[in-house]
Amino acid sequence: MDHTVTLANGVTVPALGLGTWYLGDDPRTRQQELEGLRAGVEEGMTLIDTAEMYGGGRSEALVGEAIAGMDREKLFLVSKVLPNNAGGKKMEKALHDSMQRMGVDYLDLYLYHWRGGYPLEETVDCLNELQAKGRIRAWGVSNFDIDDMEELWETPGGQNCIVNQVLYNVSSRGTEYSLLPWMREHGVALMAYCPLAQGGGLARGLMQNKVLQGIADAHGITVPQLILAWDIRDGNTIAIPRSSRAEHTLSNAAADKVVLTEEDLRRIDAVFPAPTHKVYLDIQ
Ligand SMILES: NC(=O)c1ccc[n+]([C@@H]2O[C@H](COP(=O)([O-])OP(=O)(O)OC[C@H]3O[C@@H](n4cnc5c(N)ncnc54)[C@H](OP(=O)(O)O)[C@@H]3O)[C@@H](O)[C@H]2O)c1
Repeated sequence: MDHTVTLANGVTVPALGLGTWYLGDDPRTRQQELEGLRAGVEEGMTLIDTAEMYGGGRSEALVGEAIAGMDREKLFLVSKVLPNNAGGKKMEKALHDSMQRMGVDYLDLYLYHWRGGYPLEETVDCLNELQAKGRIRAWGVSNFDIDDMEELWETPGGQNCIVNQVLYNVSSRGTEYSLLPWMREHGVALMAYCPLAQGGGLARGLMQNKVLQGIADAHGITVPQLILAWDIRDGNTIAIPRSSRAEHTLSNAAADKVVLTEEDLRRIDAVFPAPTHKVYLDIQ
C-alpha cells in the first residue's frame, strides 16, 4: 500500500485495513465474507480489526478461518476487550478466548473497546501485563475523548497506548477540533471506524452528494473511494472499512492509489466543514 501509518512502537501498517463488525453472523453470506477478507489481505489490507463483541465471537472466528494458512507475521491483527472483561483475571481469559477463535498466539494490537466500570489504572495494568508477557504486541483504546486521553496519560503506564479507535469520516469530523491534534502531539494514531459512515447509513445523502460525486468523477473513482482517500489523507489515520463482498473490498483497497489535491480538500471542506468548537465524540 502507498498509504501507511507508522505507529509509536515503530511498526508500519497499511492505512487501509479491514473492519469486521456484523461479519460472520449470517451463515448464508459466510463464504462471500471469507472471500472478501482474503481478497482484501491479498491487496495489502493486512490489518484486520475485530472484537470479542462482534457476534459474540463469530467475527473473530470468521477472521480465524479467513487467515488460516496465511503468514502470521505479515498480518496485523486487532481485537478488543469488552469493558466487563477489562480488569482482574478476566482480561487474560478474554484475550485467550479471542486468540483461540482466531487461531493465533499473539495479537498485534488489543484495544479497550470503551470505558466501563473498572478503574482505568487496573485496565492499564492488565494491558501492560499482557504486553509484557508477549501475548499482545501493543495496546490502545477506543471511543476515548480528549478528557479520557488526558486521564489515561496521567495514569501510570497509560502512555503505552499507541492507538485510539474512534468514529471518523467526512460527515463526522468533530474529533478534528481537539482530540486529533492532541493524539498527534502525543504519538497516538487514529484508527477511524465507520470510515464510510456505514455505507452512508449514518449520514443521509452522503453517497449521493453532488460535490463528492463531482470530485470522484474527476478522478475516475467512486464516492466511497473518495471518502476513504479523504479519511487517510494525513498519514496518521488508519481506516477500517467493512464489506461483506470482495468487489467492494477490492474497490476500497484501490482508494490507496487516489491522490487528492488541495483544491479537492477545499471543496470537501466547503460542504463538510471542519469543526470550529468542541464536539463530543460520535459513537456507534
Ligand atoms: N470501536 C468501536 O466502537 C467500533 C464501532 C463501529 C465499528 N468499528 C469497526 O470499524 C469497522 C468499520 O465500521 P462499520 O462496519 O460500522 O461501517 P463502515 O465500514 O463505515 O461501512 C460499512 C458498510 O459500507 C458498505 N460498503 C463497504 N464498502 C463499500 C463500497 N465500496 N461501496 C459501497 N458500500 C460499501 C458495506 O456494505 P457491503 O457489505 O455491501 O459492502 C457496509 O454496509 C467495523 O466493521 C468495526 O471493525 C468499531
